[in-house]
Amino acid sequence: MQKLYVAMVGLPARGKSTLAKRICDGLKAEGINARLFNNGDMRRALMGAESTKPDFYDPTNSFGREARELINRRNMEQAREWLIHNGEVAILDATNVSRARRKKIEETLTDYPVLFVQCVNEDPLLLNACIRRKATLPEYASYTEEEALESFRQRIVHYEAEYEPLSDEKYWMCVDATANRVLEERPCESSPYYPAIREIVVSMWVPDLYLARHGQTEFNVQGRVGGDPPLTAKGRAQAQALAAHLRGKPIAWVFTSTRFRSHETAAPLLADHPGAHVMALKEFDEINAGICENMLYSEIRERMPEVTAGRNANKYAYVYPEGESYAMLRERVQRGLRRALFLADNAPTVIVGHQAINRVLLSLLVRQRTEDVPYIHIPQNQCYHISLSPRRKIFMREPYPLDGIQ
Ligand code: F6P
Repeated sequence: MQKLYVAMVGLPARGKSTLAKRICDGLKAEGINARLFNNGDMRRALMGAESTKPDFYDPTNSFGREARELINRRNMEQAREWLIHNGEVAILDATNVSRARRKKIEETLTDYPVLFVQCVNEDPLLLNACIRRKATLPEYASYTEEEALESFRQRIVHYEAEYEPLSDEKYWMCVDATANRVLEERPCESSPYYPAIREIVVSMWVPDLYLARHGQTEFNVQGRVGGDPPLTAKGRAQAQALAAHLRGKPIAWVFTSTRFRSHETAAPLLADHPGAHVMALKEFDEINAGICENMLYSEIRERMPEVTAGRNANKYAYVYPEGESYAMLRERVQRGLRRALFLADNAPTVIVGHQAINRVLLSLLVRQRTEDVPYIHIPQNQCYHISLSPRRKIFMREPYPLDGIQ
């Protein structure tokens, strides 16, 4: 029977464990017996607090180096033992940043092919957020937040000193963890699991995502574009209705734009989910209407007929003078979506966006013809519930009516 070792590669806080878990879950969903072997878990069990200190990772510290090699050997032994019996794909979750370490893995695990999967992520916002998350792990319980952050950053510096890119290894793929993209690869053609793993890596994984638009604003009532207006009484009631609709759901992350109406809409929801993380992303700010910001649609029609004509001719491509087009939104909204999905780490998530932003988000999540994107209906009393994985596709519009208000 064909079997495979997968050995993760990457500096700390790059999303390796998330990717490793995704590969494991994805293979299991295909009926393939896969299992994770995590060096970090074994290190914490065997070495305890000593191995939290950054010195433990200093390449010139022989005690730390030997301890880490021992952990790696034990993990490889356990993985091999498991494959000998009924396992099919053993996933070694560790940094494996040096060529020497990877050589050792290839020389030790000779019974089945070894595929190295490197996880790359250099987005400073995500790195910072990942480091902050690491600093809250139980192993840093006796540290202040500042001490934990400093200690983890030093650990990364030690790993960076050892890091060597993949090249000589027999089989590998280098993955952009935020874009579901294989950047470079040396495929393991002999393994039937390679295409399955590749498919998992490039597929879009969206947890239970609730995409809502902010509640009604005074500008919406007047037919005015852009700006930073607050919600009307009806808009505040819509925000309450959204919170009621999502009550009891295990929401872990709430992303807003930096606009007041988006924050105001998220507020009741956040009061209901005090444990949820919240982050305002500029990428989700409404389309910039340039010189038309704060104007009424009727004023634009009268005073700038060329704008209305340009939008009527091709609304997707039309660039507001000194502003943006839908086509331009695509790149920044995609960056925001990648960031949100990476941080959410497969946990239930809410995005409180805007009309044009939500249109573009929907087009990124569910393919749409570009000419239709600027006309997608984005009501303020319904959210889209989306969940995507290679095996699961959910796309539903969920209303939250306002009894007696609408
Ligand atoms: O009207 C509300 C609004 O969010 C405006 O701020 C924004 O310019 C507009 O919707 C985007 O929709 P459209 O492209 O259809 O004008």
